[in-house]
Amino acid sequence: MSDAILRIGLVGFGDIAVRAHLPALERNPRTSVVVGADQDAERLAVAPTGVRTTTDAASVLADPDVDAVVIATPPSATPALVLAALEAGKYVLAEKPLGRSVAATAEVRDAPGAAERLQIGLTYRHHPAVDRLRELIAAGAFGRPFLIQAAICDEPANPDVDPRGYARRLRSLERVPPVISDGVHACDRLNYLLGEAPVDVIGWSLCTDPAYPTANVNGGVLTYADGTVARLEVVWLTPLLPRSQFVVTGPKGLATLDPPTFGLTVELADGTTEILEPPGDKTEVCFALQLERFVDACLAGTAPVPGLDEAIASLELAERIAQAAGVARLVPA
Ligand SMILES: NC(=O)c1ccc[n+]([C@@H]2O[C@H](COP(=O)([O-])OP(=O)(O)OC[C@H]3O[C@@H](n4cnc5c(N)ncnc54)[C@H](O)[C@@H]3O)[C@@H](O)[C@H]2O)c1
Repeated sequence: MSDAILRIGLVGFGDIAVRAHLPALERNPRTSVVVGADQDAERLAVAPTGVRTTTDAASVLADPDVDAVVIATPPSATPALVLAALEAGKYVLAEKPLGRSVAATAEVRDAPGAAERLQIGLTYRHHPAVDRLRELIAAGAFGRPFLIQAAICDEPANPDVDPRGYARRLRSLERVPPVISDGVHACDRLNYLLGEAPVDVIGWSLCTDPAYPTANVNGGVLTYADGTVARLEVVWLTPLLPRSQFVVTGPKGLATLDPPTFGLTVELADGTTEILEPPGDKTEVCFALQLERFVDACLAGTAPVPGLDEAIASLELAERIAQAAGVARLVPA
């Protein structure tokens, strides 16, 4: 491996690859995308000049001229691709969730190098506001226990405006409940901020359109050992969506992380306030930092963060909520 430039293969040339991974890779001076793969040849038409393309993902994973791969495929396809890449000795940045269920990730967990060479695209972990919030929680700034209100409402039913996006969301809904596909981000954030799993999980779900294959709105109420309660809601596929939110309220104050921007506002009962302005567009900042950490792991041997354990812990929690909500039947054994 060159110690200056990491030669990247990008597998899966769909929405998130083109909208976020590719721009981050192109801006990073330590990476060069050498090859792109997608099973759908049409998707490869947007590959930048100079990037070789193929519909054969396996050839990329085995390519000796590729140092590391970014895998941006749906969770039904991801585990097999990650397994092959790890077996070929590659470093891997794989999109979340790692699989449709914890059970579906079994072979990846046992793969050589999974703990050392696999980073998971729980992208919204990588932001200074999230780190500051974690610091404040650990320092006891809000007291305990908390109420955490977390709502993820980003995927509208808008077939007229965005037919391709709408079709993608419907496809995803058929295979993975929203509380897993999107909720895994919030589960990772709860794990990261609180450092523990809940002692009790209640789930609920509802379907707002009988034409949908399953419930498009899922959520859970999570109770932690100290009495902290986290209310998690994932709202998908309504024409108008409620606002996303992430608010931590304790006896000594509260913190509001604004989901669209990741601006952080802290208000304490003693009158102190702190406002952390975001350093830039949330997606750009998070994907850039995620990639920096991945490149460090590849070139400097630092531990991939979040790695396998965090990927499994967040998926386990999301699956626990899905089971409690009665929507886990979508999840294969
Ligand atoms: N980290 C984040 O913030 C974030 C945001 C959005 C999506 N995602 C995740 O990224 C993944 C992809 O989402 P998307 O919205 O880009 O979906 P998408 O459907 O737009 O793209 C997926 C692409 O993978 C290709 N593909 C599927 N199986 C393949 C295989 N075996 N070999 C080669 N190509 C294959 C498809 O043809 C498609 O082009 C999902 O797991 C999703 O949860 C993460």
